[in-house]
Amino acid sequence: MTPKPRARIYCGTTNNLRLLAGKLRRGELVAVPTETVYGLAGNALDARICRKIFAAKGRPLTDPLIVHIHALAQLDQLAVPNAAALALARKFWPGPLTIILPKTDLVPGEVTAGRPSVAVRMPAHPLLRRLLKLCALPLAAPSANPFGYVSPTTARHVRDSLGSKINHILDGGHATIGLESTIVDLRDPQHPRLLRPGAITRAQLQRSLGRPLAGPARKAKPQNQAQLAPGMLHRHYSPRARVVLHDKLTMVDIAPAAARTAWVFQKKPVGRPEKNVFWLDPKGDLKGVANRLFDRLRQLDAAGFRTIHIERAAGDGLAEAINDRLTRAAAH
Ligand code: TXA
Ligand code: MG
Repeated sequence: MTPKPRARIYCGTTNNLRLLAGKLRRGELVAVPTETVYGLAGNALDARICRKIFAAKGRPLTDPLIVHIHALAQLDQLAVPNAAALALARKFWPGPLTIILPKTDLVPGEVTAGRPSVAVRMPAHPLLRRLLKLCALPLAAPSANPFGYVSPTTARHVRDSLGSKINHILDGGHATIGLESTIVDLRDPQHPRLLRPGAITRAQLQRSLGRPLAGPARKAKPQNQAQLAPGMLHRHYSPRARVVLHDKLTMVDIAPAAARTAWVFQKKPVGRPEKNVFWLDPKGDLKGVANRLFDRLRQLDAAGFRTIHIERAAGDGLAEAINDRLTRAAAH
């Protein structure tokens, strides 16, 4: 039997924000809304608290956490920025961009999984920004899902999968972006690397940096997952169902409906509505697709589908991030 959820969902009143800020200061964990996905937050400067985050998620201690801040002035406390990093921070923060930089001694090794670098991001969600200010701490927060599962885009998603492991969830509505932040490695500003594509696109970053971005490096082979750069685990963001990717789906592809097999189009297909046929956005608008992808995967899992056929997004920009998550969800 699955344990009963014990987590309470708080709406974002000033009183609740004060209450939750106090809990964070006293070392408790709080699931928080961000514009990308919900995170599971705790004091980033306290190793013991960071270990609680790993334990709640069932996340290996080798996979480092992102640290969230609300003001650029906090960056120096955590990292050693360079001019390129500051330029990106000024342009894209607050927003869905995470920057990897050399860390300072203040950041515990637990946060960075023993690495000399730290991932920092300034989120845009207004409730999280107020909470960060009130608790006056940098908050370490990975996505608030059990390790390897689909990231949560609503408070309810968090309670559904982590509700028996945590006590507090701040409800900030549905995440507006719906995919995790873009991660750029700027330890060496001459050789910037894109570690995870997201809503801030490769083209936007290249334009700002004035140079091409390398990576994400070579495709990961499942058997050497342990040696991979973090954030690049091949299988990740996966529903329980088997995911099969297609460059393009048409109604003709759909075998006379095998039971427990779902077909997911980017946009509403023309033709007669069929059982087990779904789409991500009525018009195939990439922002809509990004926003609803994880909801759809969770919903199909909950409905008991065993196989999910999904069509890839066409184009670049946000399509790169969508296809990255689809590829990972489909990896076996
Ligand atoms: O949008 C987001 O980034 C969300 C919200 C909550 O902010 N957070 C998120 O965290 O997606 P998480 O832990 O699920 O993914 C963070 C990724 C991990 O794959 C981790 O390996 C990578 O960032 N990462 C963290 N620190 C790193 C470092 N020092 N070097 C390279 N990768 C790092
Ligand atoms: Mg995650």
